[in-house]
Amino acid sequence: MVLSATQVQQWERDGFLVLPGAIDPAACDRLVGRAEEIVEAFDASTVSVFSTHEQTRTSDEQFLASGDAITCFFEADAFDEHGTLRQDKAQSINKIGHALHDLDPTFDAFSRQPAIAEAAASIGIQDPKLLQSMYIFKPPRIGGEVTCHQDSTFLYTDPMTVVGFWVALQDATVENGCLWAQPGGHRTPLRRRFVLDPSGGTRFEDLDDTPLPEPGGPELVPLEAPKGTLVLLHGLLPHWSDVNRSDRSRQAYTVHVIDGTAAYPAENWLQRRGDLPFRGFDGRTEVVGSTNC
Ligand code: FE2
Repeated sequence: MVLSATQVQQWERDGFLVLPGAIDPAACDRLVGRAEEIVEAFDASTVSVFSTHEQTRTSDEQFLASGDAITCFFEADAFDEHGTLRQDKAQSINKIGHALHDLDPTFDAFSRQPAIAEAAASIGIQDPKLLQSMYIFKPPRIGGEVTCHQDSTFLYTDPMTVVGFWVALQDATVENGCLWAQPGGHRTPLRRRFVLDPSGGTRFEDLDDTPLPEPGGPELVPLEAPKGTLVLLHGLLPHWSDVNRSDRSRQAYTVHVIDGTAAYPAENWLQRRGDLPFRGFDGRTEVVGSTNC
């Protein structure tokens, strides 16, 4: 997916780029099938609930350990007051993260397909390193909101280089919780960073008090995306997705890429063990910055 000059200009103007038809629908189907297998094999007794409310994320050791693992996270509303799943396990998962692209061959091939590698090169990522991957389920009826945020908060480099490559594996619409983004919002400052706390756990470090756009307000526009659409998201771009109360899931896959020419801070929450360094699109292994452990 080599981008045209016009597309690169749109990217630079808006901080996002929507590319319908960039990804083969059959490849999307293969990923959906592989995710089903991972969830089927997942032992639900080792529960981790993913909530977009920061406290849960902050206190969840399983989340912190997922940077170099394949971990299933339940929706916050998956369980009733008795701790029983409200619907099937397969319809209760929020996401799988965060090293699918390095640990699972199907996800490895999907993440490193030429369409994504060429798009990354087109927008000037010199030394791409695949940092994080997430399979997002947004299940029917209980799919949770993802509050307005900037990805550089969680995936920081110095200078900031992270770009999200988001793929609609199913049609994403306003009804089932598509992405919303602020055109040009990538030119606003980074509000905060999510960092490891030297005393244990994690914390947010406030950097700028400019408010993020309010969900439902006029600054955010919906990025409706038919199956097979590739969406590029700048790390500073404020974006949000709503709950899914419809009867259709909105499955998506996202891989975040950084430029290996930038420094990767040791206080980032996502750290890799030494035998699993960040790799590029060509699969070369190279340690980036100060990955610890
Ligand atoms: Fe995001």
